Amino acid sequence: MVSKYENMKTILITGGAGFIGSHVVRLFVNKYPDYKIVNLDKLTYAGNLANLKDVENKPNYEFVKGDIVDGDFILQLFEERQFDGVIHLAAESHVDRSISNPTEFVYTNVIGTVNLLNAAKHIWKDDFSDKKFYHISTDEVYGSLGEEGIFTEETRYDPHSPYSASKASSDHFVRAYHDTFGLPVIISNCSNNYGSYQFPEKLIPLFINNIRNKKPLPVYGKGENVRDWLWVVDHARAIDVIYHKGKTGDTYNIGGFNEWKNIDLIRTMCRVMDKKLGREEGESEKLITYVKDRAGHDLRYAIDATKIKNELGWEPSVQFEEGISKTIDWYLDNEEWMKNVTSGDYQKYYDKQYLNR
Ligand SMILES: NC(=O)c1ccc[n+]([C@@H]2O[C@H](COP(=O)([O-])OP(=O)(O)OC[C@H]3O[C@@H](n4cnc5c(N)ncnc54)[C@H](O)[C@@H]3O)[C@@H](O)[C@H]2O)c1
Repeated sequence: MVSKYENMKTILITGGAGFIGSHVVRLFVNKYPDYKIVNLDKLTYAGNLANLKDVENKPNYEFVKGDIVDGDFILQLFEERQFDGVIHLAAESHVDRSISNPTEFVYTNVIGTVNLLNAAKHIWKDDFSDKKFYHISTDEVYGSLGEEGIFTEETRYDPHSPYSASKASSDHFVRAYHDTFGLPVIISNCSNNYGSYQFPEKLIPLFINNIRNKKPLPVYGKGENVRDWLWVVDHARAIDVIYHKGKTGDTYNIGGFNEWKNIDLIRTMCRVMDKKLGREEGESEKLITYVKDRAGHDLRYAIDATKIKNELGWEPSVQFEEGISKTIDWYLDNEEWMKNVTSGDYQKYYDKQYLNR
């Protein structure tokens, strides 16, 4: 007898233990009980399986620990599992780390992506019906804007940091595999995400944690840099829509229609947290300290997300004020998660859960 699971579509999600990946895995596992979701993650410092506690025992979910840089391992995994689709999020993602160690970004973001493309091409051969290779990228590949302008899907690539250069390179490889081999690829380029389960080296969780603990808030330069912010749950919703309805070979920009100067965002967070923590108005703002600007710091990113809105009917579900308030509440309510991450204890979760040690 053929079991129900043998007929399921199997989708590989890479980097599913990370910030955005964990939201995508959660959405797909819960929304599509007829898909088998395989989460492949190396569990670098940024991967945390505790992010997926609520889905880890679901019958349509499986975790595989592995490195996308290991081409032989990737090929073997694809041969064994015969994936129908790939949603590729695994990456080194922190700009500051790319400045101190650029090579790691080439291995994971470029070579890792090419290994996945090769393996998909190998198992799908020329039969691409119902197959999809969906690559998740960033708006940072487009470079920096002045006061005016907006990134569209046609904007020329102009990356400035080793991180954005490695993501741009991986995007080019994904397109090349479409143009050269006909691989059914889709790419999306998204703006800055915020929300639960983000590693506290990134601005929003770092500052929430520092405000709570009355620690300094280090602001690069004068805090004039502008970013477009999107709630991570809305990014996961966009990925779902693009995976199912997006046109093969196309690119979609995803954004929040929500630009903020860093300093204004930080002041807003201080104000909201003063209220939530019962502190005097203005108390947390005193923690702001200006530090030397990041090398090659892009001034402004802004995304035109009209195409995904018009063609696929997606738009953000929450306004920023609501999203940031929910996010702050989540970090305040999940102190244990934050403690485990900042102490490094989260790295023991895999051994406990999967190796019974
Ligand atoms: N965070 C953002 O605001 C943002 C915005 C746009 C696009 N993106 C893109 O979305 C994707 C996910 O970003 P994130 O913020 O969730 O990143 P993250 O750093 O939180 O997670 C990355 C995940 O990839 C895994 N990983 C790293 N190297 C690996 C390897 N060699 N093999 C297997 N797994 C590996 C890590 O263990 C981690 O779980 C990235 O491709 C990033 O470029 C992020």
